[in-house]
Amino acid sequence: MSSVQPFLQVRGIAKRYSNIEALKAIDLDLYTGEVLAIVGDNGAGKSTIIKILSGAITPDSGEIIIAGRKYSKLKPKTALDAGISTVYQDLALIDTMDSASNIFLGREHRKHFFCLDDKRMQQEALDLLQQLGIYIPSLYSTVACLSGGQRQGVAVARAIHQGGRLLIFDEPTAAMGLKETATVLRLIRGLAEEGFGVIVVSHNMEQVFKISDRICIMRQGEVVDCVKTSEVNPQDVVAMITGAIDLEDFSIYRSKN
Ligand SMILES: Nc1ncnc2c1ncn2[C@@H]1O[C@H](COP(=O)(O)OP(=O)(O)OP(=O)(O)O)[C@@H](O)[C@H]1O
Ligand SMILES: [Mg+2]
Repeated sequence: MSSVQPFLQVRGIAKRYSNIEALKAIDLDLYTGEVLAIVGDNGAGKSTIIKILSGAITPDSGEIIIAGRKYSKLKPKTALDAGISTVYQDLALIDTMDSASNIFLGREHRKHFFCLDDKRMQQEALDLLQQLGIYIPSLYSTVACLSGGQRQGVAVARAIHQGGRLLIFDEPTAAMGLKETATVLRLIRGLAEEGFGVIVVSHNMEQVFKISDRICIMRQGEVVDCVKTSEVNPQDVVAMITGAIDLEDFSIYRSKN
């Protein structure tokens, strides 16, 4: 972990859908330079907290502190301006445009006031992709021709170009092949090494253990515990997800090991 103060602090965030308590006053911290995995069974509340952090839905109570600034709710633009970017595999890109145009979408460089400065954008896009270790076969082909992993790479580059400091991925490798998955996992790890904060929601325990520094376990709208990945094993985490180990037992277990 590269910083002492968390970049993001979630405090007492709650969300109810009529009689379902999707989130029951949860707390969560995220530091820059780390990958935090959020795990939990179906319906545990993982996507709900992600949607609150990206400004897609409004919490009922609690606060979100980003880089020391407090918010009771976020709008998509407020979240982006504060440095939180959620990376969607498919939704975010425009298929008929090339990678550079997608990265610069809405923030294009222009010359002579109205002409797009394609050359500058292509060079900057190339530099950014190289810095992030993202390989795109051709900057000039439309993103429709790219693989899922490469598209995610372009989406990440765009998020960072927009000022993202915390990147959130909800099941980033779902429906991906082995090679693609490896590319995306490498990209996620590389982002943390570059000093970005990363949150990854995943059901895949092997991936979680490969890429994360810490794991937050959610169950029925609550954060059961947040643990260092190096201090637990997959069986413990699965047991915490299902409730086979409760928090007290787990603390005793950890103090003994
Ligand atoms: N728009 C909604 N209206 C009503 N209930 C909702 C809505 N969105 C989520 N919920 C409920 O809130 C709870 C948490 O849902 P959430 O999508 O956050 O779970 P999750 O942990 O992401 O699950 P999964 O692993 O299946 O994606 C669930 O019980 C779900 O049914
Ligand atoms: Mg979900």
